[in-house]
Amino acid sequence: MYNIIGDNMNIVDIINKKREKGTLSRDEIFYVINAYMNDTVKDYQVSALLMAICLNGMIEQEITSLTSIMIESGDTFDLSSINGIKVDKHSTGGVGDKTTLVVAPIVAACGLIVPKMSGRGLGHTGGTIDKLESISNFKVDLSNNDFLNQLKDIGVAITTSSLNTVPADKKLYALRDVTGTVSSIPLIASSIMSKKLATNADKIVLDVKVGEGALMKNIEQATLLARTMVQIGKSFGKETVALLTNMNCPLGTSIGNGLEVREAIETLKGNGDENFKELCITIASYMVSIGKGIKVETARSEVVNNLNNGKAYEKFLEMVAAQQGEINNIDISNKTVEYRALKSGYLNSIRAFELGKYIMKMGAGRETKEDIIDYGVGIILNHNCGDYVNKGESLATLYVRNEDIDTKLLDDIFIIEKNSKKLEPLIYDIIK
Ligand code: URA
Repeated sequence: MYNIIGDNMNIVDIINKKREKGTLSRDEIFYVINAYMNDTVKDYQVSALLMAICLNGMIEQEITSLTSIMIESGDTFDLSSINGIKVDKHSTGGVGDKTTLVVAPIVAACGLIVPKMSGRGLGHTGGTIDKLESISNFKVDLSNNDFLNQLKDIGVAITTSSLNTVPADKKLYALRDVTGTVSSIPLIASSIMSKKLATNADKIVLDVKVGEGALMKNIEQATLLARTMVQIGKSFGKETVALLTNMNCPLGTSIGNGLEVREAIETLKGNGDENFKELCITIASYMVSIGKGIKVETARSEVVNNLNNGKAYEKFLEMVAAQQGEINNIDISNKTVEYRALKSGYLNSIRAFELGKYIMKMGAGRETKEDIIDYGVGIILNHNCGDYVNKGESLATLYVRNEDIDTKLLDDIFIIEKNSKKLEPLIYDIIK
């Protein structure tokens, strides 16, 4: 994998250098990642370095080096046999975020190639692969050949990675998770971008979520993360655009795997929640704009056209059929419980992070990687943030296996107040 270098290097010197706010050279970063992958430096030493990076940051040149060294730790996809421009998207994760299911077929219907490697959910956020697995028989683990053939045939495929991409990130992320070192912008940016760049698309659109249900809680931090990732993309010669989008309230009306697939289908049929549809149209428009090198407004009319004429939905059906899914057989529980408003007033907040955790505990998500999930459970929001609601009205329909579910916890999640609050925008900023 790696050449042996760094005979004169010492992990303690490197930790000390970063602790004193020094700039690590490419060779030093290479030495650390290489030695960590070979188990010649210890978890506790790498943890100390990660904490020093969390506290003192990294400059652009260090972040680019770290990203490329992480990519080199494993395999990368070779998409060169596929004609056409390949465009990828990534979301930093939110509650009810089924955007990929809608955006990928729209963009493919517009004539671009969408090679989408996705992951499973962990904690309060879901994962695209889990959502697709709620469709009976849907094959989420395409071989490299099947992935490439499907992209050639229909222009879109969503799968887990069949290659050993960025193993250094898997090892580092597991360590960051248990050492309080996840929330560092250089580490998050290099972690996300190394995986995106290993997929090898030509252009990338990033959906950086901001707010209570997101990794980035405020606009300043999210802007910094977005700028860092756009810069990494550019330094690898890939045009990259980031959208800063609202995750203070859940996205759309459904949360839970099967329910989210059903909502994505409704959106592809031109129905569904207006905010969610608008977000999908905007992300798809930027993908088409950079993919074809055309103005965003021109791209938007192509996107809307392909949504309205049914071509995007047809593309989704083609993808499901190609991956052997049974579209008429989506796992959704048939037992429901209503959660009703305790009082009349304005629904000023639905605390996305807490709701995500509640739904995870219902069985729709994983607390640990090993947990088995239930695709059929979840929640449909009958009202979203900003609505006026009457006492006793149903705020949400819970899809459950057992009707005895405790809904008391939802009283602190659906916040109803006498006066209405100003709603935050859906999209805060676009960073190019
Ligand atoms: N998602 C990632 O892939 N990496 C991070 O570091 C944080 C979120």
